[in-house]
Amino acid sequence: MFKRLVQLFRGRPHRVEGIASLPDGEARAMIVGDPFNEGAQIVIARVEGQLYALDALCPHATDGHFNEGKLIEGRYVWCPAHNYRFDPATGKPIGAVCKKATCYRLEVDGDDCVVYV
Ligand code: FES
Repeated sequence: MFKRLVQLFRGRPHRVEGIASLPDGEARAMIVGDPFNEGAQIVIARVEGQLYALDALCPHATDGHFNEGKLIEGRYVWCPAHNYRFDPATGKPIGAVCKKATCYRLEVDGDDCVVYV
């Protein structure tokens, strides 16, 4: 009962295997869980050694998704639709007026991580 209550606030856990090999300054896009039933399209980015998870859907407009690969300036995820940049640590837009990107809690577990969506 307590575990289910905690999950309500943390989200459902999804294991991402082998993410420890993600180089610093890069992002990888993926789908966790069933995208039609409480899963999500996410981007995991590594900045200065730390891993961060964001919803891949850009908050600027409905047609944008964050890109994977090299981060802008080694630290910002970006959306190719209008080239907005976002800080993966906070979800805040950089140099633009826009809503924050949705950030998900992430815990590193050896070579894997668990993302709570
Ligand atoms: S939709 Fe992503 S920057 Fe406009």
